[in-house]
Amino acid sequence: MTLQELQQEHAASLQAVAGAGDAAALDALRVKYLGRNGLIPALVKQMKDVPPADRPAFGKELGAWRAAFEQALAERTAAAQAAAEPVAAFDVTLPGRWRAEGVPHPVSRVIEECAEIFHRLGFTVADGPDIETKFNNFTALNTAPHHPSMDASDTFWFDPETLLRTQTSPVQIRTMLENPPPVRIINPGRCYRRDTTDATHSANFHQIEGLYVDTKPVSLADLKSTLAYFAREMMGPGIGVRFRPHFFPFTEPSVEVDFTCHVCKGKGCRVCKNSGWIEIAGAGMVDPRVYEHVGYDPDKVYGYAFGMGLERIAMIKYGIPDIRFLYENDIRFLGQFR
Ligand code: PHE
Repeated sequence: MTLQELQQEHAASLQAVAGAGDAAALDALRVKYLGRNGLIPALVKQMKDVPPADRPAFGKELGAWRAAFEQALAERTAAAQAAAEPVAAFDVTLPGRWRAEGVPHPVSRVIEECAEIFHRLGFTVADGPDIETKFNNFTALNTAPHHPSMDASDTFWFDPETLLRTQTSPVQIRTMLENPPPVRIINPGRCYRRDTTDATHSANFHQIEGLYVDTKPVSLADLKSTLAYFAREMMGPGIGVRFRPHFFPFTEPSVEVDFTCHVCKGKGCRVCKNSGWIEIAGAGMVDPRVYEHVGYDPDKVYGYAFGMGLERIAMIKYGIPDIRFLYENDIRFLGQFR
């Protein structure tokens, strides 16, 4: 075979590979060219009969052919195999895949509802950070320097001046530092205390703070009527409020606020321990010392503040027996609130 004939065979073999329709045809070509009795091995054997002067060129062409043929064969074989893969059957009559629909978390729902109710009374929503200063969370709220709530066993401290807020009350301070009176805000937010978790306690919980300060008289009666309106709107008709004397460093006088037991409507039952009342909030008239810390003139402003536990409201409203259900993210629990 001449070198020219060799080159023609080379080109013909590549053409044959390109034109092969399936794996069987490709395999037949492999046998024809590379098999034990194939053309290329036969030509290699014939090398000894080639005149010595032509041998290098002949050998080089033979090697190049073999390499090009093997590569073309491998590529075509891979392509033929891919084309032969069965197409996944698609059954248009099968029902679609069911996906759970997300619903607002009960705590989020209570926050939304509180915002709506207080909005109708002229309150706007204020905000503040979870990481607070000692000044905003304690000092400006007139908390005595060694008050037990400041203890490391009750509060998560980062350093002597920085902590995770233990209440939403520091938002009162932020609001008054930034705005002249009148201010009328609520603030729902996360709070942190070193509490051991049980059915009614969590180290991370939510409060909603309320603050109304004005330059015209605001009284304890205004506070009571506001909370009474809130109680009815949130818990339904027939729910009343009562005030019990209490103490908070930042209000004077201070009260604890009870709502009529929603289960027995005040008759007395297991849920309210036969008292007919359920404790919901802390509140009071803003203490003059607080006004001094924020630069308000205590003789010229009047105001009240309140703070309520949001989980408590959610638990009462939705009959949730254990606060931990609110944080376990169990779809079987959360799915009930659609
Ligand atoms: N911050 C108080 C608490 O966490 C609640 C409160 C808020 C009391 C506002 C009075 C006024 O217990």
